[in-house]
Amino acid sequence: MDFADIATEIEDVLFTPEEIAAIVTRLAAEVDADYAARDLLLVGVLKGAAPFMTDLARRLRRHVELDWMAVSSYGAGTQSSGVVRILKDLDTDVTGRDVLIAEDIIDSGLTLSWLKENLESRGAASVEICALLRKPEALKVEVDARYVGADIPNRFVIGYGLDYAERYRNLRGIAVLAPHIYA
Ligand code: PRP
Repeated sequence: MDFADIATEIEDVLFTPEEIAAIVTRLAAEVDADYAARDLLLVGVLKGAAPFMTDLARRLRRHVELDWMAVSSYGAGTQSSGVVRILKDLDTDVTGRDVLIAEDIIDSGLTLSWLKENLESRGAASVEICALLRKPEALKVEVDARYVGADIPNRFVIGYGLDYAERYRNLRGIAVLAPHIYA
C-alpha cells in the first residue's frame, strides 16, 4: 500500500520507501562492520518489526540466524501501558550467543529495556539493540540502543510494520496518522 492509497488518513509523510531503504542499508553496514567474525542471532519482535528485520537481514553481507518473539506492551490504543508479557518465546537457546534485537520503534522504551534484560538473564554473550525509529520525547526509561535509524517526533506513526488497530502495517512508507482516525 502506498501513501496515495490512503491519502485522507495521513497527516504527514515521514519516510518514503526509498528513505527507509537508505536507512536500513546504513544500519546493515554498521552491523556488518561490528560483527565481522561473530555468529549473529537476529531477534525480531513481532509483529511490528517484521518488515524491518527481514529487510535488515537481507542487507547484511554475512550469514545470520533469525528468530522471533512476540511481546505485548500496548493495548488496542495508542499509548504504552508499561506491562510486558511474552506471547511467543524464542525457539533458540540464546546461551552464549551474540544477540541483536531488531525493533521497529523505541517509544517509551519499556519493551526493549525489559527485553534486553530478559535475554541477558538467559546467558546471552551479548545483547544489542537495532531500532529503526526512536521517539526521544516519549522515553520513560533509558534504552541503550547501539543502532538507531532515525529519531522522530512524539507523534503517532504508522506504516512499514507500525500499526494502528492492526491496520497500516502494509504501508510501504512511514507516516503520521491523521488524528480523525483515532480521535
Ligand atoms: C510496539 C513496537 C515496540 C513497542 C515499543 O509494539 O513494535 O515493540 O511497541 O513501545 P515502547 O518503547 O513504548 O515499549 P506493539 O506492542 O504495538 O506490538 P506490534 O509490534 O505487534 O504492533
